Amino acid sequence: MNIQLFIDYIKYYLSSSNGKGHGVHSPFVFDFITNVLNNKKHYYTYDQVEALRQKLAEDRTTIEVEDLGAGSKHSSTNTRTIGSIARNAAKPPKFGKLLFRMVNQYQPATILEVGTSLGITTFYLASANRSANVVTLEGAEGIAKKAVQHFDQLDLQNVRLVLGNFDTTLPKVLAAMDQLDFVFLDGNHRLAPTLNYFNQVLPRMSTQSIIVVDDIYWSAEMKEAWRQIKSHNSVMLSIDLFSIGILFFNPSFKVRQDFAIRF
Ligand SMILES: C[S@@+](CC[C@H](N)C(=O)[O-])C[C@H]1O[C@@H](n2cnc3c(N)ncnc32)[C@H](O)[C@@H]1O
Repeated sequence: MNIQLFIDYIKYYLSSSNGKGHGVHSPFVFDFITNVLNNKKHYYTYDQVEALRQKLAEDRTTIEVEDLGAGSKHSSTNTRTIGSIARNAAKPPKFGKLLFRMVNQYQPATILEVGTSLGITTFYLASANRSANVVTLEGAEGIAKKAVQHFDQLDLQNVRLVLGNFDTTLPKVLAAMDQLDFVFLDGNHRLAPTLNYFNQVLPRMSTQSIIVVDDIYWSAEMKEAWRQIKSHNSVMLSIDLFSIGILFFNPSFKVRQDFAIRF
């Protein structure tokens, strides 16, 4: 952990609520904390995805990777092993499982993941609601091919991977969708692209939609992106879990609120 991230974590820790729901007056947030965040039930999917992750983490096969976004903090070369991608790019198990529980709880019918990598988190998202229509975007061809292989191996039939730079694929995918119920923004962690992706998906949000923004403290640019996004006037509720930020749009919440919750 770098020094700035450590300082940000301490600030977040001191200003966040304890993750047990004490003192949280919003019934929706209380329900989120007790039934989603702290749901300790074990799901079979967890074993399947984590077995895949472990296998990939040990894979020393190298592939060429085009850097289309903010790149990696762990590698400056274009040749990467599958193992290093699996260890560094995918959301860790704790957050993959949380995304699974969110989809399981709120049952979004349409899901968009911006940034597939090897498909580990895609599997969590898509298997939590197998009747959902899941679209996932990836620009690095070698990585995308591996992800598609994983979807086939794990018999994931509700996922469509769209290959190409988000600059071209995102507008095309959105043009063909009337509504988006769940969005996971997890690629190209820079200020302007992140705001751009948020602004593009916004018109497809319904009152029940959810957006999850990854790595909101990853850099000064991502902190600024999160600050601007969560203050957008259509956002009714934001939840900061440090590693990810979650946005809800339901106007029935009446008062807009920002929470930071320890997880
Ligand atoms: C952090 S990884 C995604 C991890 C994945 N969501 C998971 O948790 O398993 C981000 C991915 O976005 C891709 N990416 C970044 N910028 C992109 C762009 N402008 N167009 C297309 N793909 C991009 C990268 O190649 C990388 O594979």
